[in-house]
Amino acid sequence: MSKKYSNRLVNATEMVNNAKKKKYAVGHFNINNLEWTKALLEAAQSSKTPIIIGASEGAIKYMGGYKVVAQMTNALLEELDINVPVALHLDHGQSVESAKKAIDAGFSSVMFDGSHLGFEENMQKTNEVLEYAKLHEVSVEAEIGSIGGEEDGVIGDGELGDPEEAKQITDLGINILAAGIGNIHGQYPENWKGLSFDTLEKISKAANKPMVLHGGSGIPQEQVKKAIKLGISKINVNTECQLAFAEATKKYVQEGKVDINKGFDPRKLLQPGAQAIKDTFDELTNWFGCKGKA
Ligand code: 13P
Repeated sequence: MSKKYSNRLVNATEMVNNAKKKKYAVGHFNINNLEWTKALLEAAQSSKTPIIIGASEGAIKYMGGYKVVAQMTNALLEELDINVPVALHLDHGQSVESAKKAIDAGFSSVMFDGSHLGFEENMQKTNEVLEYAKLHEVSVEAEIGSIGGEEDGVIGDGELGDPEEAKQITDLGINILAAGIGNIHGQYPENWKGLSFDTLEKISKAANKPMVLHGGSGIPQEQVKKAIKLGISKINVNTECQLAFAEATKKYVQEGKVDINKGFDPRKLLQPGAQAIKDTFDELTNWFGCKGKA
């Protein structure tokens, strides 16, 4: 008997193109485990919101590998009967090999992050990923400049992107562009200068492609809204869900709930954290304007 795997994932191209046209941003939410993925998919479905599920190389390794993540996500779409658009995206793919591995495993979208390379090498490797992605109808995100802070061991100095490089790399045919615009992964420091809207505006004009705001956790709402007006069509969020999950779990434990009525059962222990992820998704997608856009 042949096995039949369903594949309900879509690539991110139409989602971000629609968002750019209608001036909102699609939420890219990073996952860390089954509970995370299930909570996000349920929140997206119940609010009729398109979603990009992001998985970094580190998180993929933690969860058991590319195939585990792709098949887990696809199986959840089928078993939970999720019918809003969902893309599964490799976040900050560090090599051509990891992008190809993600595509082979069934990811519907990949980021090749060549920001640590010289521009020529970044272009050449982005192009290599693009050629392979095209064969599988997978969308491709590239990066110029770099995002500050640390994401899963990947450290960036926060170099502002260059409009000329933005044009050259988008001309390769990529679908989404990430650029350093003063954004930082993780929590923003007290003395953060804010987003460089001038840089964003110039790059967005030169590239004329949906752009990504990495480090989407903790940016004040007015800055998020202005960034969307200037061309941001995808916003990446990781830390904010992690903080919400940890806070809710800590509260459950500190209130002694873990010690009563079998509160140690992971299905109970992880429940407040899962709810906190859903609440975070609801709040942020409202800000991003993508809520209900499925
Ligand atoms: P934050 O962890 O700062 O939300 O950044 C997430 C991100 O940009 C993933 O690519």
